[in-house]
Amino acid sequence: QTIYLKDYQPFGFEIDKVHLTFRLNPEKTRVISRIVFRPNPEAEERDFFLHGEELDLIWAKIDGAEVTPILEDGGLRCAVPERAFTWEAEVEINPEANTALEGLYMSNGMYCTQCEAEGFRKITYYPDRPDVMAPFEVRIEGDEKVKLSNGNPGASGDGFAEWHDPWPKPAYLFALVAGDLVNHPDRFETMSGRDVELNIWVRPGDEGKCAFGMEALKASMRWDEDVYGREYDLDIFNIVAVDDFNMGAMENKGLNIFNSSCVLASPETSTDGNFERVEAIIAHEYFHNWTGNRITCRDWFQLCLKEGLTVFRDAQFTSDMRSEPVKRISDVIALRARQFCEDNGPLAHPVRPESFVEINNFYTATVYEKGAEVIGMLKTLVGDEAYAKALDLYFERHDGDAATIEDWLRVFEDTTGRDLSQFKRWYEQAGTPRVKVRDTYKDGTFTLHLEQSTPPTPGQDVKDARVIPIAIGLLAPNGNEVVPTQVLEMTQANQSFVFEGLASRPVPSILRGFSAPVILERESDNAERAFLLAHDTDPFNKWEAGRALARDGLLAMIRNGAGPDDAYLDAIEAVARDDNLDPAFRALALGLPSQEDLAQSLYEAGDTPDPQAIWDALETLKQAQAQKMQDLATRLYAQYQVDEPYAPNAEQSGARALANAALGMISRVDGGALAQKQYDNADNMTQQLAALSCLLKAGKGAAAVTAFYDQWKHDRLVIDKWFSLQILQADPDDAAEVTQILTNHPDFTMKNPNRFRATLGALTMNTAGFHHVSGVGYGVLADWLIKLDPINPQTTARMCTAFETWKRYDETRQEMAARALDRILAQPELSRDTTEMVTRIRGA
Ligand code: ARG
Ligand code: ZN
Repeated sequence: QTIYLKDYQPFGFEIDKVHLTFRLNPEKTRVISRIVFRPNPEAEERDFFLHGEELDLIWAKIDGAEVTPILEDGGLRCAVPERAFTWEAEVEINPEANTALEGLYMSNGMYCTQCEAEGFRKITYYPDRPDVMAPFEVRIEGDEKVKLSNGNPGASGDGFAEWHDPWPKPAYLFALVAGDLVNHPDRFETMSGRDVELNIWVRPGDEGKCAFGMEALKASMRWDEDVYGREYDLDIFNIVAVDDFNMGAMENKGLNIFNSSCVLASPETSTDGNFERVEAIIAHEYFHNWTGNRITCRDWFQLCLKEGLTVFRDAQFTSDMRSEPVKRISDVIALRARQFCEDNGPLAHPVRPESFVEINNFYTATVYEKGAEVIGMLKTLVGDEAYAKALDLYFERHDGDAATIEDWLRVFEDTTGRDLSQFKRWYEQAGTPRVKVRDTYKDGTFTLHLEQSTPPTPGQDVKDARVIPIAIGLLAPNGNEVVPTQVLEMTQANQSFVFEGLASRPVPSILRGFSAPVILERESDNAERAFLLAHDTDPFNKWEAGRALARDGLLAMIRNGAGPDDAYLDAIEAVARDDNLDPAFRALALGLPSQEDLAQSLYEAGDTPDPQAIWDALETLKQAQAQKMQDLATRLYAQYQVDEPYAPNAEQSGARALANAALGMISRVDGGALAQKQYDNADNMTQQLAALSCLLKAGKGAAAVTAFYDQWKHDRLVIDKWFSLQILQADPDDAAEVTQILTNHPDFTMKNPNRFRATLGALTMNTAGFHHVSGVGYGVLADWLIKLDPINPQTTARMCTAFETWKRYDETRQEMAARALDRILAQPELSRDTTEMVTRIRGA
């Protein structure tokens, strides 16, 4: 059943107050609700329908008198008075049997919840929609040492704890946690001098992994005050780490719940990348307190209103805490890998979708990451000052609201006087725009001719021209910048921009900072790219020039068996050698386009990508690069060892990234000798894992793999790394088999999403292995998705996206992928989540 944005109707009732009592029991938890409803004057319909799924209704009352509601699929209906009334009900639920990890469930003996998007209906009967907001009071009864819910603590005593959340909120922000947890406490004084108690709650044994997350939380709280003027609004802020969690984390009011992999961190067990991710996700969930909780979404079509904005804000935070260019480059790499892939395949949808079957399938790279890009473009177009003003107005005007994208755009229109109706197309039209660029030069005048177009996407054949901010600078042939960065505002399908008074033909640096999520198409040559790589003042475009050189060289290798391109090797060596450049930037510059990236480029150009040929070309180039740069790699490896005690900051992690890139090149030549040395001496996970990965690549990993397991078998997050690294580093011919073997390991379990992703998810990331010509990769994944679906539909559906590129490949692969998809689809009682995903991927 499809739900449409255009069908939105307000709910017939408002809620004054919610009171919930939980009598906890693993298999028979009772939930008693008391809810004060009143007719909503804004609504026409007065149909009293409450959502409810997998609930056992014990009794229900209206104003104290027992009633007999009509139970339906997905909820209940009841006749109610035409005035304010109190609804009461008692239901029984079974948290222990809840393997879908939606609603109230158990993880390692601890009770926890996940209600976004529509999980609250598995806790009690309720209008489970984000535009129904109410203050909640919660009483938890049980023997657990720690019992938490949203808001501020109330009375507590033997076997019970009460919580009051004064801020009206939708049900998806409800949370409850109970268990024998321990806390890492701290305090924070807000800008107006309010004292807030902070806690990170974990299982006993994990206390030592909380300090970094706590510092990140305090930094986030300060940053949101300094940059957005947003203050925290409760007496307490709790974070809980949970091992079994479908996503990264959840912003429940005052009680954020995290996948333990996204909050726990220690130098011995976490990589630099893990630390950065923890910092970013803590910030993301904290920032939701204003962008998501105080101002929420009217309906789930507006998901990007909170997610796009909050991703944009957490990226700003990371740029401020660490390196802005490095963050930008990393984000664009991820955007191209995930969002462009989505936007150019069967799952393409607008940033604000117009319909869905299962909303959980729309927590996508498009809603999150493209949603954040759209906000970045808006800021670029109106300028920093106007952006700040518009945000102030947004918070002032919409505090307490369930808002829409129209509301969001209106604050920008009202503060700037701009008409944003054309800009709004970024929210409405799916697909990645192509911008074709030509240039001409005559008598000191340089003209850029731009042409934009967006290919059709499912359900949207025709696209209109969008507003595209194109940041550009011009360089003189001697490398000097003659025109510093300015933003061209493209609004037409075809448009020219003129630069006058130039002494000679300039080299343009276009789309600086990746100012719009588009694909730039421009004929260029190696010489120009090497020039930009050497001279561009914009770090993003400097990196981009190196990336384009690498891509062109690789495409030639794949298409016509050309050898590695010397122009690329020379240019990139010069960058790697340049000690004036940030080591983290150099490590990124030494990276190569991903297999997915190359497959996409080939497909766009009308070729059929061969995953094995792509893998071979990458290997050949890496080997050539390693051989050519041995001396430099040896120098860099020695020079960028970190002597100080481990700290997960930008400076140290940049040095480690460059040294480990050098180790990768050295290991291709020395057979793993240096990697073994690093492995034996490593005192932190970044060094240990980088060494292990080099050893596996060199075929010398067997002993280290065993040693690693013995060292870390008590630590589930490290063992996840152990599972995934073996699969990621396997040769394409072996990847599916290695995966199969690991699924037989006693530590493999389907019930823990992290472990499932560490194995089956890793297989999908071993691109050439997953798309192996034998079809074994598709087969193994389909087998496991079929097994997982009845247990956990959400994680199953998400992992189906591995098939989204299937139509790019040759007929043999297409047939095998289609067979795998059809086999999934043929399962009786396949979940709604997986059915929708596979149907869309399979297409007509
Ligand atoms: N709102 C959460 C976040 O972005 C994600 C929750 C996703 N939940 C889901 N069922 N898809 O921080
Ligand atoms: Zn979010």
